[in-house]
Amino acid sequence: MYSDFKTISTYYDALYVKDEEYSLEAAKVKELLIKHGVRSQSELLVLACGTGGHIPYFKDDYHVSGLDLSEDMLALARKKFPGLEFHSGNLIDFDLDRDFDAIVCLYGSIGFVKTLDNLRAAMQRIAAHLRPDGLALITPWSTLEDFKDEIVVDATNKPDLKIARMEEVRLKEPKIVEVRFHHLIGSDDGVAYHEQSIEIGLFSHEEYLSSMSDSGLEVIEEYGGNDVRGGAFIGKRH
Ligand SMILES: C[S@@+](CC[C@H](N)C(=O)[O-])C[C@H]1O[C@@H](n2cnc3c(N)ncnc32)[C@H](O)[C@@H]1O
Repeated sequence: MYSDFKTISTYYDALYVKDEEYSLEAAKVKELLIKHGVRSQSELLVLACGTGGHIPYFKDDYHVSGLDLSEDMLALARKKFPGLEFHSGNLIDFDLDRDFDAIVCLYGSIGFVKTLDNLRAAMQRIAAHLRPDGLALITPWSTLEDFKDEIVVDATNKPDLKIARMEEVRLKEPKIVEVRFHHLIGSDDGVAYHEQSIEIGLFSHEEYLSSMSDSGLEVIEEYGGNDVRGGAFIGKRH
């Protein structure tokens, strides 16, 4: 079942989109795209773009479009970037009737597809939307090999919005992680509590590689630096 972002979208940017983190991550992604031949001003599709947190750092260098399943997240992205094209779609079966020079899927959002069949379907859709020699850059949520249970703790403290965040990240089934959000949101109206669980698929390193190569994406680099959260698998379309 898709875990919606209805409530979280209302404070997603304030809680998660930290300029220092997103600017560094986007800069590294651009460096990797350039290194592998994606030219300036070419066409870039940002999959599971959410509210478009990375888009400020891409939009001057590429013709950027975004795609996401959440209408709530897309509404915020559209408001922030009225000149750009955003598509409502699912990673596993999107069909935009056009292709791109590069497609990126960041912050582990690919994990939302949950099952290996869906991962393979998503990689097929990605390959189908790339021009020959086009590049896919996918950050895994975590690989099966690297996963560890944890409790994430963080806070946002702005004059008019204060959020305390704890998230329990636990292995629920052999290849499904449950993330249980506990968010306390303080505003002029008082403090509200939001609790929600989402499920994320955990795929092995080999499953990422084979789902890419079986879709016609030759894996040309596995980037492991910390500036791209989760690292990145980079594939070139034959
Ligand atoms: C954690 S957010 C990350 C958003 C953005 N990439 C970022 O780094 O800020 C995950 C996003 O994936 C989207 N998403 C989840 N499942 C999806 C699917 N099957 N197809 C497309 N988007 C999906 C959600 O709506 C949400 O916007």
